[in-house]
Order: sequence, then structure tokens, then C-alpha cells
Amino acid sequence: MTQNPTLTRRPISQTAKVLSLTPRGKNLYQLTLKLATLGPFADPGLFARLRSWGPAPAAYPLLDRPFSIHRYRPNQGELDFLIRPVGLGTNLLTQCRLGDPIQLLGPLGQGLGNLIPDYKNRPFYLVAGGVGLAPMANLIDQSKGPNHLFYGEREGQSLIDKAYLTSFAPNFTAVSEDGLGYGEKGLVTQSLKAALERERRTIFACGPQGLLAALAPLARSYGVNCYVAAEAYMACGLGVCLSCGHYLVDGSRIRLCQDGPVVDGLLMDWEKS
Ligand SMILES: Cc1cc2nc3c(=O)[nH]c(=O)nc-3n(C[C@H](O)[C@H](O)[C@H](O)COP(=O)(O)OP(=O)(O)OC[C@H]3O[C@@H](n4cnc5c(N)ncnc54)[C@H](O)[C@@H]3O)c2cc1C
Ligand code: FES
Repeated sequence: MTQNPTLTRRPISQTAKVLSLTPRGKNLYQLTLKLATLGPFADPGLFARLRSWGPAPAAYPLLDRPFSIHRYRPNQGELDFLIRPVGLGTNLLTQCRLGDPIQLLGPLGQGLGNLIPDYKNRPFYLVAGGVGLAPMANLIDQSKGPNHLFYGEREGQSLIDKAYLTSFAPNFTAVSEDGLGYGEKGLVTQSLKAALERERRTIFACGPQGLLAALAPLARSYGVNCYVAAEAYMACGLGVCLSCGHYLVDGSRIRLCQDGPVVDGLLMDWEKS
């Protein structure tokens, strides 16, 4: 049992410039970059590695960090990322000023189009946990739909700005575990299950591993496909260091940075990583 053969796509290394940095909720930012070179960034789930040099480059000998492509506007040469600061690299990126240079390497990995070439014409249930919302916008922007997004945060106060969410995802159900903010109280899996009872659709999901693991039995029980953009610690992002290895149910091991991040969630061994 294998994934589709890996597509060869040469990532572009370039210095992009910060066009805007917009707060989109508590501890959440939309970073818009002006690209020096356009590339094949559109396939949902692809990612890029970003590095901000910060105010004093020599003081920050940082590795670059992986981020999903959030939105791509090739006609304007603009690429968006949705970033939640959690440590030094993400904090530097979300503190940069307009015009600052950002080192970008991408696109990297395999997107949904590698597994479903006609994804733009398919109806999906999109499932996002936390900042796993980022690649969903890329799919919705391109898709002829109909799609419905199930989006959850642990804390309702961390939900993305509602007006911004509505601007790219007109059909959504937002939930949180504490029921605060604009979402309903609950889990995305509960909302998804209710929708699957009414209509079966292919699932595309991104979020914490616990969520992705919970989707596999749900998808199996309703007989639908489930594709996921899986996250892992990625040191190199280039298939070299093996830090992103993950087992499949047949016992073989894939590198999520090269063979994913978009993979068939039903082929993944979620017990073993
Ligand atoms: C394919 C992929 C897509 C991602 N997309 C997004 C996105 O769209 N938006 C977003 O906000 N975040 C995204 N992330 C997570 C983001 O890469 C990490 O939050 C970031 O690397 C943390 O770097 P830091 O220097 O701020 O934190 P650190 O101080 O290095 O670490 C803080 C936390 O982040 C984890 N972490 C550190 N480096 C990595 C790494 N290279 N890969 C994964 N986890 C790491 C650490 O284990 C730790 O728990 C994505 C990760 C992957 C693998
Ligand atoms: S991150 Fe180094 S091999 Fe995947």
C-alpha cells in the first residue's frame, strides 16, 4: 500500500518583501508577501519555509520554519501565510515591518492535487483545527465547490476574526471546546459526523495529529475518502534529515516533507509516528 508517486517540483529560493501583516484574531496574523519570483504555489497543502532576519540578523542564527500556503494571488505576485506565534521564529515573522525582507523557499511537499488531480471540481468537507485553517483558504479560493468548512479551536477566544473567515469561507461551522467566542460549543468531529449523516463527501483536513487520527475511523465508517495535510517537526523540509518520518499502516515509512504533507489519512498509522 503506497502513496501516489512523489511529484518532482523544484522549490524556488527567493527574498520576498512584507506587504502587510494583519492581525486576524488573538495571536494570529495574516502575513502577505510580495514575491520576487512566481511559482506553482496553488496546490492546497503545499508549504514554504520562511525566515525573517529580525532586527539584528547576526543575533538570530535561526533555521527557517515551515508554513502552509494560505492564499496565492499570482496576478498580484502575492502570497499569504496565516501564522500563530509560538516561539522565536514565528515571533520574528509576526513582528516584521512593511518592506522587510523574508527568505522564502518553496513550494515544498505534495499538495492535494497530487492525490486528487480534479480537486477543484469536487465537493469537500474541509476540517481545520487551529492554524490548520491556513491551507483551507487556498482550496476554497480555487474550488468550484460546494464546500463546507468545519473549523475548531480549543478556546473560543482563539477563533479567527469572523469577518475574515466569512470573506473566504462563506459556508462554515465554527466550534470551540469552551463555547466562547462566536463558535458553537463542541468538537469539529461532532459537527462533521452530523453532516456526514446528511450527505457523504470527501474530507480534506489539517490540524493537530489527534484530530487527524480521529477522522480516519469516522471516514471509514461513512465510506468516504479522507485526505489530510499532516504536520510534523520538520528540520530540513527537503527530505534529508528524516525528522518528519511517519509510518503507514502497511509498516512502510514516509517523509512528510517530501511525500506529504498531504497524504491519504486512511493509509496513515496514527498509533505509530
Ligand atoms: C508542513 C507544516 C505547515 C505548517 N503550517 C503552519 C501555518 O500555516 N501556520 C503556523 O502558524 N504554523 C504552521 N506550522 C507550524 C510552524 O512551523 C511552527 O509553529 C514553527 O516552526 C515554530 O517555530 P518557532 O521558532 O516559532 O518555535 P520554536 O521555538 O522552534 O518551537 C515552538 C514549538 O513549535 C514546534 N516546532 C519548532 N520547529 C518546528 C518545525 N520545523 N516543524 C514543526 N514544528 C516545529 C516545537 O516542537 C515547539 O513545540 C506548520 C508546520 C508544518 C510542518
Ligand atoms: S524534514 Fe528533513 S526529511 Fe523531512
